[in-house]
Amino acid sequence: MKTAIVYYSQHHGNTKKLIDAIAAQYEFTLIDAAQTASVFLEDYDRIGFASGVYYSKFHKSVLQIAEQDLPHNKAVFFLYTYGAKKDGYTKSIAEVVRKKSARILGEFGCPGLDTFGPFKLVGGIAKGHPSQEDCDGAVRFYGSLPS
Ligand SMILES: Cc1cc2nc3c(=O)[nH]c(=O)nc-3n(C[C@H](O)[C@H](O)[C@H](O)COP(=O)(O)O)c2cc1C
Repeated sequence: MKTAIVYYSQHHGNTKKLIDAIAAQYEFTLIDAAQTASVFLEDYDRIGFASGVYYSKFHKSVLQIAEQDLPHNKAVFFLYTYGAKKDGYTKSIAEVVRKKSARILGEFGCPGLDTFGPFKLVGGIAKGHPSQEDCDGAVRFYGSLPS
């Protein structure tokens, strides 16, 4: 079972914290969408897409790699962090992978420190997140994915 995670985590490295917690217990290939224009994903059985939420979506670099490089009929999962909880943050990435007939295994999202725009004035929202509990939740989620 080979797994790759394609991620973007630039605001505060919040999403990367979840990934690092998972990487402490499991082996997978990590691909930074900010450093890569395209990737070869054919060899992987499971592909995770991970991102901070930017304007209610996964970052465009992750969406673009999914659009360009996700082979058809793969098993995929989503990991994300957000400043304020709201439904629909995985809608756009789900739409992209569905076009590739992907099987969506599940998703895990949690808060992540957000100092964007006016939130900076109050020291940010979702302070202290991802917390240890959030990271543990991400590890449990990963461990529960079907192999
Ligand atoms: C430009 C920008 C736009 C954002 N848009 C949203 C948003 O629409 N909804 C939300 O809940 N958080 C939003 N956030 C907050 C981030 O999703 C949150 O801080 C996330 O944990 C960042 O992840 P990262 O550190 O892995 O990049 C935004 C942050 C930035 C910098």
